[in-house]
Amino acid sequence: MRAAVLEEFGQPLVVQQVDLEEPRAGEVLVRLEACGVCHTDMYTASGADPSGYAPAVLGHEGCGIVERVGEGVMLVRPGDRVVTLFSPQCGECVHCLSPRTNLCMAIREEQNKGHLPDGTTRLARGGEEIRHFMGTSTFAEYTVMPEIALAVVTPDAPADRACVFACGLSTGLGAAMNTAGVEPGSTCVVFGAGLVGLGAVAGCRLQGAERIVCVDLSQERLDLATGQGATDVLEGGAGTVERILEMTGGFGADYTFEATGNVNVMRQAVEAARMGWGLCTVAGVAGKGETLDIVPRLLITGRRVAGSSFGGVKGRDQVPQLVERYLNGEIDVDPLISHKLELDEVNRGFELMEAQDGIRSVITFA
Ligand SMILES: NC(=O)c1ccc[n+]([C@@H]2O[C@H](COP(=O)([O-])OP(=O)(O)OC[C@H]3O[C@@H](n4cnc5c(N)ncnc54)[C@H](O)[C@@H]3O)[C@@H](O)[C@H]2O)c1
Ligand SMILES: [Zn+2]
Ligand SMILES: [Zn+2]
Repeated sequence: MRAAVLEEFGQPLVVQQVDLEEPRAGEVLVRLEACGVCHTDMYTASGADPSGYAPAVLGHEGCGIVERVGEGVMLVRPGDRVVTLFSPQCGECVHCLSPRTNLCMAIREEQNKGHLPDGTTRLARGGEEIRHFMGTSTFAEYTVMPEIALAVVTPDAPADRACVFACGLSTGLGAAMNTAGVEPGSTCVVFGAGLVGLGAVAGCRLQGAERIVCVDLSQERLDLATGQGATDVLEGGAGTVERILEMTGGFGADYTFEATGNVNVMRQAVEAARMGWGLCTVAGVAGKGETLDIVPRLLITGRRVAGSSFGGVKGRDQVPQLVERYLNGEIDVDPLISHKLELDEVNRGFELMEAQDGIRSVITFA
């Protein structure tokens, strides 16, 4: 099959012919239909992530059709449309059994090493091992993944829309709906209007927030935030916290969300949370070694800070529900898909992202 391989950090991915083995026990062969290009792919390709490895097939925002299943697979059937989950749901570990987190423990260690759960890879090239990325490797015509890392979505869901629920969009929606659990009538502030921030704006709206302020540096993106339900938009900068305090009678917001990955913005998000009960949810991924600097008094006086991985979404249960809400017209995905690319143009997807040209580029497979 053809796949985009990270050969060398800091260099363009190389689309080429690679070998993919049949699925083993508990594994599934998926034919990709669509895949979003996300920052984490670019971050790893750049070499900035110290835990990255090469050669590897990148990509983790996939949607496709189950082609074949390995021994003992119970959760999916050939023909199912599935969204890939870098954050699986085994349903049995101590975290899956708790309603308080989505951080499944089942396959973490091997996934981080670029292996499938049995410690080996299905990807190779002339006998040389190629590693899997985030347990997904969806910049490819096919992928082999554990069944616990596939969410079965309705066949009515168009793959080129459903794929963004594999990462960024669900992360933002879930940050508002699961992690924060925004209450109706609340005032919310979302910092960042990329896919994650726009998802958080939509999540606040779905939860019945009364006021949703979105902060970004780009007017074009703020317009998209209005389309997702923001009631107010603000250009970000040094005076943002003061502006938000002014807008909220001096108190700050019930819920704030950070979706930029910038630790200074994280700090603003904490400072813009209301005294007494304001909850700041951090979704952005900061650079290695960076720290969040906040005055502890802000916490004593009732503000709280929470982090959110994949929006606290338990993937196999909740991704299908979110996709249903999209099909019901509750989530407007179309404006978030800016470019359609072919696999051969994957590096162009990185260029567009770097230029902040559109929210998401999606690779589609014929
Ligand atoms: N927690 C998770 O599971 C998870 C999943 C996916 C992505 N992420 C992270 O979430 C973050 C956002 O992802 P994205 O895909 O939406 O990224 P993005 O780059 O598309 O969006 C970030 C936005 O922040 C804005 N911004 C930058 N500086 C700002 C400032 N000072 N004030 C206000 N806005 C500012 C930018 O203009 C941009 O629109 C990234 O750090 C990403 O790595 C986390
Ligand atoms: Zn991602
Ligand atoms: Zn689990």
